[in-house]
Amino acid sequence: MTNEAIPDLMAFDDAGLDEAFGGLERRARVEATFISNVADVEKFRLEWLGRKQGRLNEVSSRWLKAAPPEAKKALGLRFNALKEFVEGLLDAALGGGPSDSALKAEAIDITLPGSRRLTGAEHPITRTMNEIVAVFAALGYSVGVGPEVETDFYNFESMNFPHGHPARDTQDTLVVAGQERRPVRDRLLLRTHTSPVQMRTMELVPPPVRIVIPGKVHRNDAADATHSPIFHQVEGLCVDHNIAFSDLKGTLDHAMKALFGSAVKTRFFPSFFPFTEPSADVQISCIFCGGKGCRKCKQSGWIELLGCGMVDPAVFAFAAEKQPAYDARQISGFAFGMGVERIAMMKYGISEIGQFFAGDMRFLGQFA
Ligand code: PHE
Repeated sequence: MTNEAIPDLMAFDDAGLDEAFGGLERRARVEATFISNVADVEKFRLEWLGRKQGRLNEVSSRWLKAAPPEAKKALGLRFNALKEFVEGLLDAALGGGPSDSALKAEAIDITLPGSRRLTGAEHPITRTMNEIVAVFAALGYSVGVGPEVETDFYNFESMNFPHGHPARDTQDTLVVAGQERRPVRDRLLLRTHTSPVQMRTMELVPPPVRIVIPGKVHRNDAADATHSPIFHQVEGLCVDHNIAFSDLKGTLDHAMKALFGSAVKTRFFPSFFPFTEPSADVQISCIFCGGKGCRKCKQSGWIELLGCGMVDPAVFAFAAEKQPAYDARQISGFAFGMGVERIAMMKYGISEIGQFFAGDMRFLGQFA
């Protein structure tokens, strides 16, 4: 049956070869459509690929042999293509996937599993910062931000750190090089705290003001388990008529309970910041031992968490240069600043601040 099916090949040029092979391909395709059971599959296979009598065998022995040497390559290429085509038809008829050769010919291997994308998650610092901000947003505070590269004026001078004042030494500063020709007040540095945004806010809006300012700060501190030259703060500022220290205490006591649980107690210790008077350090009862005394609180039952105080009249005087309504005889206010890493470390039981910045997915994935 098969021998007659393969005509003699007359022309060995490209057009002749295309026509001859094209004809066979069409025939194979048509015949494949008639396959309806396993026996048909086997019959098709024998007819086309059978070792002795298959058509491809016939093509190879008759056409290839008759071909002049210069046509052998072109013929061989077409022969291989036809063979792959027939094998593909057979695979499809067997209900299997595409043949290996068919797969290789595909531009895109649709059988490859897709590459899985990891779901992103908030960084624990971002999350803690948002949590703190949300506590104050619920009290009616708005949210502001300011530049991380700041001038000497906003970071220090307007915050009542005069030049040469020893308080500047408490915030070892990273300064931008090559600023010597600028007036000192305009020289750039990496802000050491978020407090300069207090001044930027007051210069823009008259009182009353209630604002929280989350952001990144830098200090030239050696890194250790609890210090990092880069860290984050949330600043707060509240200015209005008749704001008293009791308002500051009530606000921060509420915030600490909202962040660490209603059982937490606060206490205020005298402290010093140039931009607040009086100033205080806030401690919370140890969240690990409930105040009984443990290793974490060095047996004291208390943990120091943030700085705060009543806005110093000298700071209002700087603000009044742009907004005269910041008149210390008319208004008063309080400010506070807290370290985000410290709060996150306590909330999540983290003992190495460097973990926040190492980019280790095994650490970060735990917050997903
Ligand atoms: N800016 C202070 C610091 O970084 C914190 C602070 C803010 C203290 C506001 C009082 C009022 O140490």
